[in-house]
Amino acid sequence: MMRRIIIAGNWKMNKTYSESEEFLSEMANFTETKDLKNVDVVICTPALYLKLATGFAAKSKIFIGAQNVSNFDFGAYTGEISAPMLKAIECSFCIIGHSERRKYFGDTDDLVNAKLKILQQNKIIPIVCIGETLEEREAGITEDVVVNQLEGAFRNITVNNDVVIAYEPVWAIGTGKTATPAQAQEIHSLIRSWLIENYNHEIAENMSILYGGSVKPDNIRELLIQPDIDGGLIGGASLDMGKMKEMINIAVEL
Ligand code: 13P
Repeated sequence: MMRRIIIAGNWKMNKTYSESEEFLSEMANFTETKDLKNVDVVICTPALYLKLATGFAAKSKIFIGAQNVSNFDFGAYTGEISAPMLKAIECSFCIIGHSERRKYFGDTDDLVNAKLKILQQNKIIPIVCIGETLEEREAGITEDVVVNQLEGAFRNITVNNDVVIAYEPVWAIGTGKTATPAQAQEIHSLIRSWLIENYNHEIAENMSILYGGSVKPDNIRELLIQPDIDGGLIGGASLDMGKMKEMINIAVEL
């Protein structure tokens, strides 16, 4: 089985309802008339727009992802959204462990692990984000940080082609600084080796490992041609229809 290439947009906390509707409608039309080959297009919208978004997904080739999920099923957890709720509206993916959640909302590896489990139980594909800060890179501990995050997120988790990993160096997010293709490939290869050691060759080979951090039309090609980079988790550039189409076209043509 060839692993899938995933072009995933993470809108973060951006776009109004009507801007979302306009974007999703155009993206649905764009993908509908296109042979996407082995490329999956995923749009991760704010929670408020997920139902609208999955409506467009049902009529097209795009997939929809949430940006976060509760580690609980149901109950008295004010402000939270659960995996069964996401499942009920046919949300296919969910980002967990994004560095912004870790930094501003206290998401820990244990929480990421619990969220991973609950998403699997509900058949939603987690996009597990990991990545080092600038200080950690400069201290020469990038590999330790990444392996620790993997061990934390995947503790007691069985994987069966139902998880995606995104390597997002924190210093490259929203800064315009991208890891060089060689820097990114080095960590992607480390992640794949970790998967071989902790799971097996087949699981490692089939898992899509995305790169995130200032991905844009200008640099996506060089990133995607790396042997262990299987797509992008794209923030800023995913808000722009023209750039998103361009990046999808590049991925499809590779
Ligand atoms: P940017 O593409 O804006 O750097 O954001 C990356 C990211 O955090 C995607 O999840």
